[in-house]
Amino acid sequence: FPLSLPVNEPIRQYAPNDPARASLQQKLKQMANEKIEIPCIIGGQEIFTGRAFNVKMPHSHKESIARVHLASPEEIQKAANSALRAKHDWQHMPWNERAAIFLRAAELLAGPYRDILNAATMLGQSKNAYQAEIDSACELIDFLRFNAYYYQQLQKEQPLSVEGVSNSLEYRPLEGFVVAITPFNFTAIGGNLAAAPAMLGNTVVWKPSDTQVLSAYYTMKLFQEAGLPPGVINFVPADGPEFGETILSHPDLAGVHFTGSTGTFQQIWQTIGKNIDKYKTFPRLVGETGGKDFVFAHPSADWESAATGLVRGAFEYQGQKCSAASRAYLPQSLYGKIQEKIISDLSTMKMGDVRDFGCFINAVIDERSFKKISTFIEIAKASSDAKIIAGGNSKMDVGYFIEPTVIETTKPLFRTMVEEIFGPVLTIHVYDDSKLDETLRICDETSPYALTGAIFAQDRQAVEMMSKRLINAAGNFYINDKPTGATVGQQPFGGARKSGTNDKAGSHLNLFSLALSENGER
Ligand code: ALA
Repeated sequence: FPLSLPVNEPIRQYAPNDPARASLQQKLKQMANEKIEIPCIIGGQEIFTGRAFNVKMPHSHKESIARVHLASPEEIQKAANSALRAKHDWQHMPWNERAAIFLRAAELLAGPYRDILNAATMLGQSKNAYQAEIDSACELIDFLRFNAYYYQQLQKEQPLSVEGVSNSLEYRPLEGFVVAITPFNFTAIGGNLAAAPAMLGNTVVWKPSDTQVLSAYYTMKLFQEAGLPPGVINFVPADGPEFGETILSHPDLAGVHFTGSTGTFQQIWQTIGKNIDKYKTFPRLVGETGGKDFVFAHPSADWESAATGLVRGAFEYQGQKCSAASRAYLPQSLYGKIQEKIISDLSTMKMGDVRDFGCFINAVIDERSFKKISTFIEIAKASSDAKIIAGGNSKMDVGYFIEPTVIETTKPLFRTMVEEIFGPVLTIHVYDDSKLDETLRICDETSPYALTGAIFAQDRQAVEMMSKRLINAAGNFYINDKPTGATVGQQPFGGARKSGTNDKAGSHLNLFSLALSENGER
């Protein structure tokens, strides 16, 4: 301290002869055989509740790798009480001591914890080594380091003092406890949703997604090993509705830090609305939710970059990123070449188990997702308005495998063009070059979401015009790049409309939302 602006954690490539690959493979073997029991961790104590379920590997669902103990309403209450008890000491610890704990966690993750978190993310969430590395290693390390830096900078911003009057602005945690409800698709998001409020002096009750408990548990162990005092973050895997009912009606609820579906976030608002008289303070709701992210190519686009952007944006991590390209608007004049490249790129991609490092495509998260995604593919197969031009097959005998699927439709309002699918399905609408203006309007108006979007164009005037036309359709807007892969410190992440409250994870804006500010005059 003072902290200087961090640099992003370098990404390891895990090339065939790299010792890093051998070390990660070793950890994968060990973890797959360990079959650990995952407890709730409340006030620093591990509680094995006995209400347990098995964690299955999405790419090999007959193999279970862990057993998770779920919190009952009683334990959920205990977690809230434990957070409230820990609050006083934690809040009054100097800010840099709190930040130092999370910076230590970043160092441990850059070192001995890297393989642990990457292996857990690969096995539990079916991410290949590269996708795990950019998530559970690099992005989480970056969140921890950058948030400490932003927190420091935030405190430097002070109001004007004039002669005889000295003004100050202080940030303090929200009054009560914060709930972190976190998704399956990014280990880093889970860690950040719990750690960011805690760094500010809040205490937290953390419910990870059922399908991400393995890596969330190791993230919690990482924070503990870095010196996090008991009760600051309470780890409670739980049944979603039971958790919501118990925790959201607690009078000391001060905030919800959420990433997940739009539907669940809406339910949280509704429950909080119903309970509004009970709370001591208005709870802060910070959420990042769904998306129907677009790629729009202008006739002046570099068609090769557009095709690469589509393949990477739509199919990395099986399209299970809230940022994934899911609908594309491509001009007739470029379509032939783009289509050819997409089909050719996809034909080289192997699908299979994450432990085979040659597989670019792995499984989707669970049976429910598998069925939902397959239903959308069947809808396209059955419709005369759509045509499958790549993929379209799926099977779940060993793991939940769905081929990267590309649908072409003449109708820009076709269901797979407008509804969120959250899987490896891209729908393309080919527009007549003369209908650019109308197609831009359709792109902006036909989705309730506004998370990410990408335009491809080489003509500078076209870039300006399209950026203006689509400004409200995406919180993260990319020009000549894929719409996924926001890097902490470079592209603060989050959108508006039905995609969330736009509080921009990995930035000072997110920290503002999780703190109260107090103005003092002397
Ligand atoms: N932050 C993640 C991305 O940009 C979701 O892909």
